[in-house]
Amino acid sequence: MAQVFDRSSNALARASLVLTGLIVIALGVALDSLQRSPWVTRQGQRPDQPIPFSHKHHVEGLGLQCQYCHTSVEKSSYAGIPPTKTCINCHAQIWTNAELLAPARQSWATGASIQWIKVHDLPDYVYFNHEIHVNKGIGCASCHGRVDEMPLMYQQNTLQMEWCLNCHRNPAVNLRPTSEIYNMAWAGASSDKPVWCGQTGKSGPTAQAVNCTTKDPNNSNPEIAMLQVAPGSGRGQPQPNSGTSMQPIPTSGSGQTVSDGSPNALLVPVNYQKFTSQIELGKYLTTQYHIRGANELSSCETCHR
Ligand code: HEC
Ligand code: HEC
Ligand code: HEC
Ligand code: HEC
Ligand code: HEC
Repeated sequence: MAQVFDRSSNALARASLVLTGLIVIALGVALDSLQRSPWVTRQGQRPDQPIPFSHKHHVEGLGLQCQYCHTSVEKSSYAGIPPTKTCINCHAQIWTNAELLAPARQSWATGASIQWIKVHDLPDYVYFNHEIHVNKGIGCASCHGRVDEMPLMYQQNTLQMEWCLNCHRNPAVNLRPTSEIYNMAWAGASSDKPVWCGQTGKSGPTAQAVNCTTKDPNNSNPEIAMLQVAPGSGRGQPQPNSGTSMQPIPTSGSGQTVSDGSPNALLVPVNYQKFTSQIELGKYLTTQYHIRGANELSSCETCHR
């Protein structure tokens, strides 16, 4: 029987198979990069907000702390968007007639909240919680970028699973003292910028058991170096100069009772240890903050419940 296909058509068939394969791969790559593209992840987009609110003006310019407006970030899963009242506190006096602020005045008059458009929005099947991240030494800037330099808010990172896992597999490189979580410029411990940490003697698994400072405790007044950490301070109470935790921290009320109700031990000796690299500091904080292992933090149930 005569061959229906000669050698050359055989080669053609092979070539077209290879070609098809290549096209499939190319499509796969294209879809994958589409899935990661800023268009899908919404990275960098600045939605048209009802009011063009500037974090740069209010944070960098006026020096407002994040928790002045995002009041629940340390104690709940949500950071919270401030109510109109927060704006009116100041804008009843400043920029009172500005066209830009008309939606705020209207909201205040009618009681209907300002319709801010969400910038970050995880799918509902992902569990996320601010409280745990913030209280275990992950700063706002590690996830949101330099918010203090943003005239209009945008999403800095992809917020995709891979991004979360990248940190969960090795959180140590991103861990900082909890006193630095609002510090937008934090760059980790280094020989130029060492960090000193010591145990406060306070029991419990929380960050209160350790106190860190960016000022050499041995160079300051030795008496002050011995104190530190009024119980109940730190978490929850904004500290104006977070880097210098060396000043005795005024407690509320009489100065003797503190918010956690425990009897007062204002002077807590601290044996400071000096850290000149982020790797060392990260290791230390991993132990002190009781950070779970990579396996547990990357297991599906952690984020999909
Ligand atoms: C004066 C009040 C105020 C202060 C201070 C403030 N914010 Fe905001 N923040 C807002 C308002 C209002 C919005 C909603 C409008 C917008 O997205 O720009 C917002 C939105 C955000 C969002 C995006 C929310 C979303 O829709 O996904 C992030 C992230 C954020 N702020 C982080 C910070 C951080 C970090 C700081 C401190 C460096 C800070 N904010 C300080 C008022 C404030
Ligand atoms: C602590 C006081 C304070 C609070 C709280 C505050 N503002 Fe302002 N805001 C100011 C001041 C002061 C300026 C003028 C800043 C400048 O000109 O540099 C300003 C300016 C503005 C402007 C004009 C454009 C700009 O950014 O310069 C807008 C819009 C604005 N604020 C919106 C808001 C909104 C919305 C809120 C509530 C989420 C808010 N502000 C909360 C003090 C405040
Ligand atoms: C580990 C990463 C991470 C850290 C650290 C972090 N955020 Fe967020 N933030 C997110 C993610 C993810 C979302 C979106 C949550 C969602 O859609 O459910 C978000 C949403 C927000 C929102 C809007 C929605 C809400 O929860 O109310 C604000 C405001 C915000 N973050 C502020 C802050 C501030 C202020 C800090 C620092 C004190 C901070 N975030 C620290 C990841 C982080
Ligand atoms: C920069 C580092 C970092 C990033 C990014 C990050 N996480 Fe985490 N996450 C941590 C650390 C540290 C902990 C605390 C671990 C511990 O306590 O053992 C944690 C804990 C958690 C927990 C455990 C909460 C609990 O109550 O058990 C969940 C859930 C979680 N993260 C979800 C996410 C999701 C979802 C994302 C991405 C949108 C994300 N994280 C991004 C560092 C990070
Ligand atoms: C640290 C948190 C975290 C862990 C751990 C995690 N995921 Fe996810 N996962 C996410 C986030 C965030 C998204 C949303 C991604 C997006 O919006 O693009 C997601 C999305 C998904 C999706 C939807 C499809 C996709 O890829 O976008 C699937 C399926 C999924 N995860 C399965 C898993 C499985 C299986 C595991 C365990 C091996 C796991 N996840 C562990 C955070 C996590």
